[in-house]
Amino acid sequence: MAVTHDVLIIGGGAAGLMCALTAGQRGRRVLVIDHANRVGKKILMSGGGRCNFTNTGTTPANFLSANPHFCKSALARYTPMDFIGMVERHGIAYHEKELGQLFCDVSSKLIVKMLLDECAAAQVSVETGCTVERVQRTDDGFRLHTSHGSFAAPALVVASGGLSIPSMGASGFGYELARQFGHNVLPTRAGLVPLTLTGKHQERLQDLSGVALPVTATCHQQSFHNFMLVTHRGVSGPAILQISSYWQPGDDLRLDLLPGQDALAWLKEQQKQRSAAELKTVLSDVLPRRFAQRLCELWLPNRPLKQYNEPQLREIAEVLGAWPLVASGTEGYRTAEVTLGGVDTDELSSSTLMSKRVPGLYFIGEVVDVTGWLGGYNFQWAWASGHAAGMAV
Ligand code: FDA
Repeated sequence: MAVTHDVLIIGGGAAGLMCALTAGQRGRRVLVIDHANRVGKKILMSGGGRCNFTNTGTTPANFLSANPHFCKSALARYTPMDFIGMVERHGIAYHEKELGQLFCDVSSKLIVKMLLDECAAAQVSVETGCTVERVQRTDDGFRLHTSHGSFAAPALVVASGGLSIPSMGASGFGYELARQFGHNVLPTRAGLVPLTLTGKHQERLQDLSGVALPVTATCHQQSFHNFMLVTHRGVSGPAILQISSYWQPGDDLRLDLLPGQDALAWLKEQQKQRSAAELKTVLSDVLPRRFAQRLCELWLPNRPLKQYNEPQLREIAEVLGAWPLVASGTEGYRTAEVTLGGVDTDELSSSTLMSKRVPGLYFIGEVVDVTGWLGGYNFQWAWASGHAAGMAV
């Protein structure tokens, strides 16, 4: 079969569309294949419908990977400013929410439209509702047998994403294809995901569902300061989603309930000023009242402050500064924003994302073992890795 295109891209998500428009602008004949009925579904649902499309503070330190250096090259060659430039050229209004996170003012639909307009201008073809049945390596490159016929090209880009939100088209396709071509796939698990509690740990908090408080969550020397939300099945909120990517069942997870404060100094000051007040009353001034009460029922002895001696105050400060949260698991791929692990970066070029085993085969975006923090970093990796491959194919 004769070559039909220069580049075939499996997956019309963030990374696939960016790769397509970049390669198309370089004059390559590009075909994007997606099994979903429309491209960019995750972009549409992202950021509560307003797409947190990048983070102006993106650095390689905001990513998890077995090789933390791998993401550096692509991130350096396509920066948040590059993507912002495209957003501004298309007249899309945006704002910074917090911590460098940029969101559309109106709708994430505008980001998908922008990517599709760029693809159309670069003559990129898109096949949606198209199932890839078989991928074959040929003398000239690759041949795809699909529900819409066969296509052949010297370059094949796998941009099929991770396992999170199966109802949005997520599949393990990219991992299977990587294995088919002899690539190692590192174990995958849900990331940026709520944690679940069971047994007495759940019973102790369950009726506080809806209570939110700022915390610093720490696991494996990684800390995130943000809000935690108690849910009916466990805990969520940005601080928990962030730390979930670093946590695995059995790991020690601690919450500083008075972030930014020296708990012992604060308790001593309170003891001086309000010696007759009970601990739960004093704590209710700085924590949600029901949460403070629960702490004093189950974790801390509740007495008037004047009745504590220094070692006792020290013990209370230790609990407040490093409250142990015993989670049993996560809510899993059903609600996770990302998939950790994936195609091992050891066998990919960090500058082009091409396979070191199979020339012409590329892996980009979330299918690769590079996972960002919450806050626009995952899209920035999708844009950067898509751009790197799009410049190389
Ligand atoms: P992506 O998942 O975008 O695309 C993969 C594409 O491949 C899909 O179109 C899919 O249909 C297709 N596909 C899969 N299997 C296939 C097969 N067998 N054949 C053909 N096609 C196939 N990140 C961020 O930075 N800011 C944010 O605001 C958010 N918000 C957010 C909200 C929610 C609810 C989720 C689930 C995720 C986020 N994310 C995020 C994460 C972000 O969406 C994610 O990291 C990127 O979309 C990854 O881009 P990819 O292109 O790699 O995969």
